[in-house]
Amino acid sequence: MKGLILSLGLAGFVFAGGEAIFKSKGCNACHKPDKDTPMGPSLKTIQGAYGGDVNALVKYLKGQAEARVWPDKAAIMKAQLNKLKGLSDAELKALAEYILGK
Ligand code: HEC
Repeated sequence: MKGLILSLGLAGFVFAGGEAIFKSKGCNACHKPDKDTPMGPSLKTIQGAYGGDVNALVKYLKGQAEARVWPDKAAIMKAQLNKLKGLSDAELKALAEYILGK
């Protein structure tokens, strides 16, 4: 909820917060908060690779940057990025902030 209220304040129009997007797109099926699984790296591991760089993560989510975390499994994740097509820049930023624990 905090994300939604914050988003409303920042963008001035209604959109789902980062956590809501993450869950509604099924990202949490492969990404757990702090434990890597065979399905995917944890959010903590992703945070380690991005070091709080929201802009770099947004670029990745838009398909404009190479994978940093497990490059040998990048193809699995690349297919997931299609689910994010149609999200606004503000929504992608909220999603990136959620992933990076901001
Ligand atoms: C079928 C399992 C699966 C689902 C569902 C999934 N991911 Fe991933 N994700 C992976 C795997 C495997 C990797 C490791 C490969 C890589 O680093 O690109 C990964 C990596 C990532 C990374 C790190 C990218 C990098 O720079 O390496 C981010 C960010 C990410 N996922 C976000 C998401 C988001 C957002 C969603 C929901 C739209 C999502 N994932 C759904 C499996 C999944």
